[in-house]
Amino acid sequence: MQPTKQSGLALHNEFSADSIEAKDLQHMLHPSTNLKQHGELGPKVHERAEGVYIWDNQGNQYLEGMAGLWCTAIGYGNEELADVAAQQMRKLSYSQLFAGRTNEPSVLLAEKLKSMVPFDAGRVFFGSSGSDANDTQMKLIWYYNNAIGRPQKKKIISRKRGYHGVTVASGSLTGLPAFHNAFDLPIAGVLHTTSPHYYSEGRDGESEAAFVDRVTNDLEQMILHEGPETVAAFIAEPILGAGGVIVPPENYYQKIQAVLEKYDIFFIDDEVICGFGRTGSAFGAETFGIKPTTMSVAKALSSAYLPISAVLIPEFMYEAFAAKSDELGNFGHGFTYSGHPVCAAVALRNLEIMQETNLFEHAKKMGEIFQARLRQFVGQPLVGEVRGAGLIAAVELVKQTQPRVPFQPSDGVGAFCSAACQDAGVILRNLGDSVAFCPPLIISEDQVHEMVDKFAVGLAKTQFWAKQSGFT
Ligand SMILES: Cc1ncc(COP(=O)(O)O)c(C=O)c1O
Repeated sequence: MQPTKQSGLALHNEFSADSIEAKDLQHMLHPSTNLKQHGELGPKVHERAEGVYIWDNQGNQYLEGMAGLWCTAIGYGNEELADVAAQQMRKLSYSQLFAGRTNEPSVLLAEKLKSMVPFDAGRVFFGSSGSDANDTQMKLIWYYNNAIGRPQKKKIISRKRGYHGVTVASGSLTGLPAFHNAFDLPIAGVLHTTSPHYYSEGRDGESEAAFVDRVTNDLEQMILHEGPETVAAFIAEPILGAGGVIVPPENYYQKIQAVLEKYDIFFIDDEVICGFGRTGSAFGAETFGIKPTTMSVAKALSSAYLPISAVLIPEFMYEAFAAKSDELGNFGHGFTYSGHPVCAAVALRNLEIMQETNLFEHAKKMGEIFQARLRQFVGQPLVGEVRGAGLIAAVELVKQTQPRVPFQPSDGVGAFCSAACQDAGVILRNLGDSVAFCPPLIISEDQVHEMVDKFAVGLAKTQFWAKQSGFT
């Protein structure tokens, strides 16, 4: 989108030289940002936040409809978590897990996590981000297959439009060109199968059930083409988040899992967004009937009060690691901040608060109200598909709804809509022309209505603008 006042953003020449905005433009390299456009538009400075609301440095209040980056599950400004962090910093601000050392918060957090996940987890490995968790997943599966004597079984299959992070390995697992182009990714040994999005991938006259069969067959053909003895794992987010909040059709996971079982291929369940109540159950695996072999969690694990991630693996993998590391003299994987006691203490209390306040039940109820409200937009101009589960959803904006005719990416319709929503007082995120919603799980019924009402204002402005611009 061109830098205009209509977008609700100031132009860079409006900032005084000593402002944070001007200093940002001088010093920062922003992640996941159109750098040229940022240089023209300048930053939006967030200053404080409380509950589901966030304020910028101009005093404007926004409902945070994206929970930051899908992460601030229990909302902003929780005093108890601030106290837990301060106490832990005073008591033991840092300790390592290397060479058999340990600390109470991370051990108790591992125990708590194992009791919550819907599969038989044996051991927990801690990191700091979703990306490093998925890097760890790849390394652990390679190590495991080396340890049990099948060194050729190493390839990982991900999906187009999947998002698993940005490091060399997790960025390769990600199936979005923007994260590969000019970065020389993906690396060898990572493959991407068909995205399970019926609305954009389904063929003319193809039923949803036939689509699922085709996508399942694509996966099986890929495995057979590569050689099943070379394929170690399949990685999936239950709902594909950053790829556009894609909800796979009914029976998709059941059919995919049958293929994986046939060829002895692990299922890495990436619950970095879906974990901890987001989709109407505690984990996305429960919402969709997935049987994970291993799991990655991050984001809502600490409600983003501090950075922490975890990889959960079954005991049989751990037993193989123990034997192999004895042979090699060391299990050579780990981060300085694996099991950071302050992050672990905050995450543990965050999970306890979620349980004590029945947050997942609340999120499920709010999710039902939210999904029903959002579906009322079906049939409006530009609204191609409304999709989601629980408190995560997207509205896909298209030139023509049935059959789907998308806008040109250069029209910038999704970007216009999210900027218009921001002007209306709600932060949403456009993923291409899909406008995503993912509010903090503590959102109240009134706030759900406020969020959707504000989106309606942004959508109406977008419908008018698209017509005026000759896009429709
Ligand atoms: C499903 C999923 N996996 C992994 C990641 C990567 O997490 P991080 O940004 O903490 O590295 C993300 C981030 O959005 C994600 O959505």
